[in-house]
Amino acid sequence: MIYLDNHATTPCDPLAVERMLPWFTDFFGNPHSTHQAGQIAADAIRNSLQSIARLINVDVDKLVVTSGATESNQLAIRGAVTHPRQRRRHLVSVTSEHPAVLDVLKDLETDGFKVTLVPVVQQGHPSAGTVDMERLADAITGETALVSVMWANNENGAINPMAEISELCSLHGCLLHCDATQALGRLPVDLQSVKIDLLSATAHKFYGPKGTGFLVVGGGERRIRLRPQMLGGGQQSGIRSGTMNPAGIVGMAAAFEQSVKDLSEQPDRMRGLRDQLWSRLNEGIEGLVLNGAELEGTQRLSGNLNLQLPGIEGQAWMSSAPEVLFSSGSACSGHDAAPSHVLTAIGLNSDQARRSVRFGVGRFNTIEDIEAASHRLVESYQRLTHLTR
Ligand SMILES: Cc1ncc(COP(=O)(O)O)c(C=O)c1O
Repeated sequence: MIYLDNHATTPCDPLAVERMLPWFTDFFGNPHSTHQAGQIAADAIRNSLQSIARLINVDVDKLVVTSGATESNQLAIRGAVTHPRQRRRHLVSVTSEHPAVLDVLKDLETDGFKVTLVPVVQQGHPSAGTVDMERLADAITGETALVSVMWANNENGAINPMAEISELCSLHGCLLHCDATQALGRLPVDLQSVKIDLLSATAHKFYGPKGTGFLVVGGGERRIRLRPQMLGGGQQSGIRSGTMNPAGIVGMAAAFEQSVKDLSEQPDRMRGLRDQLWSRLNEGIEGLVLNGAELEGTQRLSGNLNLQLPGIEGQAWMSSAPEVLFSSGSACSGHDAAPSHVLTAIGLNSDQARRSVRFGVGRFNTIEDIEAASHRLVESYQRLTHLTR
């Protein structure tokens, strides 16, 4: 198998696994117990969170541990805007956000909030897929409670200008939430230079374990009040009840430390592999179209490649070369393969979106992987198009 789907998830770093193991067996105490076993686990959590906080330049007390970015997004958005002190009822986000944001907003609409979804720059432009900044500025008003914009997109890798967006939100006195799931570990994130009130993350996108993530609460200058979404034992100052997972948190910190260390060379290495994949596929398949921002610029994640195939659906290509793992431009819900809303948001029609695929190159990929995968993919494309001719 050649795994080229690192936007969906990443393999857990062996170093993180090694650091996690003792927390399942030798040190299994409940970190909320006051006895010695509990305090050992609580200390490990504290040290791990301190390490993460230092790497994103924020106070450790601003981190709330969650089960991942889906939960962090719910807690951030629903928690902030339904707090009794929040009077404003308008929310702004972007058409290409992850469903873990869009579906929360849809639900809040049924509770009486007004939601404005801002479009993204359209296909064909060098920064296609990033939020349309003029339209964003027009959408925010004195009634806007919260703006939610992702740092980097999980399908087309588009990187949004978070510093500019942060300034815009301060100007209007509204909260800024950022789903930074695809950015952490892939881009430098410094919350002293970019002020973000609420920032969501998940460990399994930066070579950590699944089921563990965090939310930064109060990364900007404002004090943030959240209405808890999970009630119970009152852990984490009552903001997120539930027993914390020491192994998951230790693993998340170990994986994050390594990812940040790798930032000095991994993005360039991944860009090289991604460009190699693009050129090999282009050599073998006539008429490929790149979806989203240009590859040379700074507005696209370095390991991301999203492209349109001439003549066949992405899903058919995936099935014909099952040993190469990547994603199609359709999201399967039951038997219905709906075209990706991210691709239709940049202006593709449903046929173009269905003929699209996403590759995500990761830390563990090699030149040999890319050569073997592109060879196999070109061969299976030619076989498929020959059959359908
Ligand atoms: C941008 C983005 N937000 C949120 C999520 C959900 O993360 P999790 O799987 O940790 O709930 C994902 C994962 O696919 C993502 O890519």
